[in-house]
Amino acid sequence: MIADAAIRLATAADAAGIARMSRDLIEHGLPWRWTVERVTRTIRDPNTNVAIVDDREGIAAFGIMFHAEDDAHLLLLAVRGNAQRTGIGSAVLLWLEAAARTAGARRIRVEARIDNDAARSFYNEHGYHERVIRSGMYSSALAGVRLEKWLRGEA
Ligand SMILES: CC(C)(COP(=O)(O)OP(=O)(O)OC[C@H]1O[C@@H](n2cnc3c(N)ncnc32)[C@H](O)[C@@H]1OP(=O)(O)O)[C@@H](O)C(=O)NCCC(=O)NCCS
Repeated sequence: MIADAAIRLATAADAAGIARMSRDLIEHGLPWRWTVERVTRTIRDPNTNVAIVDDREGIAAFGIMFHAEDDAHLLLLAVRGNAQRTGIGSAVLLWLEAAARTAGARRIRVEARIDNDAARSFYNEHGYHERVIRSGMYSSALAGVRLEKWLRGEA
């Protein structure tokens, strides 16, 4: 399912909420790298799109995509626990993919923890292929998987 969600670009006022969601939903068990300061810098970075979906409880989902020439890198994507599995993550991903296409990206790359079955299933569902499995991608004890999706013309 893909939710019909209203998606907007983040402002600096969203940084604390995004940073908290990153810490709790993505970086749990690891040092907190996506702090409020880093998220604020990222929101202001012209090479990055930070997309948000709001609901009555606040930020329901966000995604951060970095653009470098014809490659795009999905840095973070998360949906609040009680809003998961309603198609909101898909809506944010498709919105960021469309923005990447418009910016000229040929490929989107993303990483996930190897034990993150939800994310791996989600990205596979959206046409991402698992390319590399690397031990210690996140920490000495935590392996990760690198995925990618070609938007046009695989090299
Ligand atoms: C991964 C994540 C972003 C998916 O967002 P979501 O809004 O729940 O996903 P959607 O509802 O759009 O799901 C689309 C499809 O992905 C797959 N999927 C999503 N969550 C899944 C789960 N927990 N288990 C298995 N498949 C799943 C399913 O195929 C699903 O389609 P279906 O519901 O019709 O079966 C969300 O689970 C999340 O925020 N997780 C915590 C943070 C995280 O791991 N982020 C990704 C790494 S940066």
